[in-house]
Amino acid sequence: MHAVVLVGGFGTRLRPLTLSTPKPLLPIANVRQLEHLIAHLGTSGVTDVVLALGFKPEPFFTAFPDGKCAGVQLHYAVEPEPLDTAGAIAFAARDAGISETFVVMNGDILCDVDVAALVSFHKARGAEGTLHLTPVDDPSQYGVVETDLDGLVQRFVEKPQPGESVSTVVNGGTYVLEPSVIDRIPENQKVSIERVVFPAMVADGTLSAMATDDYWIDTGRPETYLKANLDLIDGTRPIILSSIGTHAHIAATASITRSVIGEGCTVGAGCVVIDSVLLPGAVIGDRVRLERTMVMGSVSDESSLIDCVVGSDVVVPVGSHLQNTRIPDPEQKQ
Ligand code: GDD
Ligand code: MG
Repeated sequence: MHAVVLVGGFGTRLRPLTLSTPKPLLPIANVRQLEHLIAHLGTSGVTDVVLALGFKPEPFFTAFPDGKCAGVQLHYAVEPEPLDTAGAIAFAARDAGISETFVVMNGDILCDVDVAALVSFHKARGAEGTLHLTPVDDPSQYGVVETDLDGLVQRFVEKPQPGESVSTVVNGGTYVLEPSVIDRIPENQKVSIERVVFPAMVADGTLSAMATDDYWIDTGRPETYLKANLDLIDGTRPIILSSIGTHAHIAATASITRSVIGEGCTVGAGCVVIDSVLLPGAVIGDRVRLERTMVMGSVSDESSLIDCVVGSDVVVPVGSHLQNTRIPDPEQKQ
């Protein structure tokens, strides 16, 4: 299944951070927000992500040089000019040739919604589009949604004025859409999905919505960007998409994404562990970065290992930077 991820906004509300780095590439607890998001999609049956890019596309090419992220294949769709949310979705979907049910996600959302369950909900209702809804304290910053008891959307109001809607559930920025939604959006025109396309679908009775109360945050403002970081390190949001064995010691400032931490392992302060497996008893020092790496022995402080395999009884020295390496080298041993 394809997902279109909207990453072409200007990030205005997060300036000055976004003057140098696009919002989705800012780290949340040391891992780029987009990596958190794509790793989550990857566990829900999404095999291909189309990045809907507009403003500042180059840092995205540099960030994912092999065109993959968390095992998911990336496609880049660069708009000639910002087309707003619907224009961007349609441009990206046409660029990638999407012709089946697909997922859309705002690139500044961190959430634990079960996307596979959202797809099942959408299919069971035969909807043209299905929104994920989440409760918030102040709906005025969001797209406010009113539904009937079956989850059929009755009203969608983007950034309502005070008193305009009484609902406190809002558009959570994750959608399941049929390809027919793309046909509603004219080519190469600036169109908002929230202000134009969703209200039209409401009028046609084809938009449904599923509300959940799991973890959700839009990181697009300084106070929510800070909160998203703190939620991960203080455990408000559990370490995501990982399996942690018993008696493992993981520093509070370590960030573990889509990895297996075996029984009795130690992971030091400031580590970033992505798509990796630590076998039982592995010891990882401080500020170590592991990507797609398996470790049985020890990795000392300040090292980075990408696509490596470390055997037992091995101590990788302080400050090692290794890529595509097996230690000890199995060839040498024979
Ligand atoms: N490619 C592209 N082109 N992406 C865009 C463009 C564009 O012209 N404009 C905005 N985006 C991207 C942003 O980068 C972001 O990932 C997403 O679209 C949503 O834009 P925001 O600017 O973050 O919107 P918002 O937070 O005010 O409101 C949206 O999200 C809320 C949930 O956080 C709406 O979808 C609301 O209805 C929703 O409640
Ligand atoms: Mg936002």
